[in-house]
This record gives sequence, structure tokens and C-alpha cells, in this order.
Amino acid sequence: MTTATISEEILQREQTELQEMILHLKKKLNAVIVAHNYQRPEVQDIADFIGDSLELARKCTQVEADVIVFCGVDFMAENAKILNPSRIVLLSEGRAFCPMAQMIDGDDLREWKERYPQAAVVCYVNTPAVVKAESDVCCTSANAVRVVETLPQEEILFVPDQHLAHFVAIKTKKRIIPYPGYCITHRRLKPEHILLAKQAHPEAPVLVHPECAAEVVEHADAVLSTSQMARYVKESSATTFLIGTEMGLLHRMQKENPHKLFYLLTPGLICPTMKRTTLRTIVDTMEKRQHEIDIPEAIRVRAKAALDRMLAAG
Ligand code: 13P
Ligand code: SF4
Repeated sequence: MTTATISEEILQREQTELQEMILHLKKKLNAVIVAHNYQRPEVQDIADFIGDSLELARKCTQVEADVIVFCGVDFMAENAKILNPSRIVLLSEGRAFCPMAQMIDGDDLREWKERYPQAAVVCYVNTPAVVKAESDVCCTSANAVRVVETLPQEEILFVPDQHLAHFVAIKTKKRIIPYPGYCITHRRLKPEHILLAKQAHPEAPVLVHPECAAEVVEHADAVLSTSQMARYVKESSATTFLIGTEMGLLHRMQKENPHKLFYLLTPGLICPTMKRTTLRTIVDTMEKRQHEIDIPEAIRVRAKAALDRMLAAG
């Protein structure tokens, strides 16, 4: 047996042991495990439910188990707590935060609101609870255009993602004022990556996330949230796809479509903080009941109003 196969075998045995421990802890805590589409393959495989930000938020409103173990990043776990406050919500890794969500805080938003007092405030769910509390309505990448179209105001202050803001601006007739935040991961995707990949696979549809820059979005066949991409590849008659979002989604796509081929447009599409969660961190979190999400009630109630308006928009 080669050294490579021995270490693969050890790794596999270790993963199986950790998976068994997680199953045992799930029963002990009466917990459910939810995971975002960007999580590591072995984490997606032990989750009760995987999805995009919108699906996970909806799912968490229905959870009846005592504990929600959230495998994703901080704002997603906060959404779960905001929407279902009587449950204990544990974040799967203490340092799993979204860098984009940290580009704005409550003071920043209050200052921008003073500058544009007539504008409605739409905040991407990739924000801390305090920012949601200061907003009129939330949105995700799956429903941003629909949410903005439901608003009576013509002027929209859109925070914090400038690229999603630009995408909404070209899809609606509203005047969008973008806040200058961005995703550190999707920013790595450049038009030249698409042009090169298209040379090798001219027939393959290019799917990108709306967090990508405008000059990237221009070259895409479809601009979709992560779960919308998963649905698109299932329903499409194409057999090869070029994917412009975080690499974790390819595991789900490949699992659901074993006979189709998926290429990541650049290997740089990896979200470092999403990848901090491992089977080991999930075991530690559950054993020690740590990284519990706690949101002051006054903020939670206002943040929930913004999330509820989003969910009501469909
Ligand atoms: P989705 O809601 O499309 O899954 O996106 C979440 C996210 O953080 C994208 O970077
Ligand atoms: Fe945040 Fe970008 Fe990572 Fe999504 S991919 S969690 S927006 S840093």
C-alpha cells in the first residue's frame, strides 16, 4: 500500500468517526444541522438541509428542534436567531464571519441615511443584525430585484454590496445608490477567466453570482444565487457548465448531476472563512455548546421586521 493511500485511509476513518460523533450529539442536543452551499463537502454531507441564504433563512423559521447548528458564516446564523429566537443557535466555528458583512456597521448606515433621507434602505442579508435593524427591508442574491421592485420609493440606498447593487440597477428602473462594499472572493473572478474558459468549452453556459463585478456579469449567460445555479444545472440540457461562484457549490452540483461536468472559472473562488468550519469544529461546537448567537432583543425585533418584509415579498 502506498503512503498516499494509507493517509487517505486514515483521513477517511477519522471523518467517519467525527460523523458518528455528530450524529450522537445531534440526538443528545435535539439539534438540526443546516449548511450553506459553500461548506466543505463532508460538512454538506452531514447536514439535514443545505441551501442558499434565502432558503436557509426560510428553513430556520420552521425548525422545531431545540438547537440549530449553523454551518456557514455569522450573519446567516444571526438570521436564524432573529427569525426563530426561542431556539439555541450555534455557529459552527467561532471565526466564521463574512468579510463583506463587516464592511458596514450601524454608525456607517446612519450616516448614509442622513445623506439620502428620501431613499428606501435595502440591505443585503450579508450584514450584521444592527444594520438590518436600521434598514427598511432585507434581500438576498435570489430576490434582490423582486424586493426592490416592490418598494414605492424611486431612490434606493443599497448596502453593502456595490456589485449586487449594480446588478439590481440594470434590472430595475430604480435609482440605486450603492454602498462601496464587496465580496473578497467573487472579486477575484475576472473577465479574462471567462474568455479563457469559453475557448476551451465554447458550448458551456457561464453561470455567475451577482456579487461578481459588472464587467464579469456582462459575460455570463445567467446571474444567479447559489441554489438558483444548482437548479439551473439540473434543468438544463447542457452537459458542461462554467461556474463563477465559491467552489463549495460544485460538490452539490456534481453529487446531484453525476453525469455532467462542472468547471470553476478560477481556482481563486474560495471563501476562507466559510472553509473554517470542519467536522472537528462542529463536534467541538456541539460538545461545548459554544459560539451561541445572542442578539439584544431591541435590535432583534427591528432586524426581524426587515427580514419579514423580505420574506413577504416572496
Ligand atoms: P447565496 O445566498 O446566493 O447562497 O449567497 C450567499 C453568499 O454569501 C454569496 O457569497
Ligand atoms: Fe461573504 Fe463573499 Fe464569503 Fe459570501 S463568499 S460569505 S459574501 S466573503
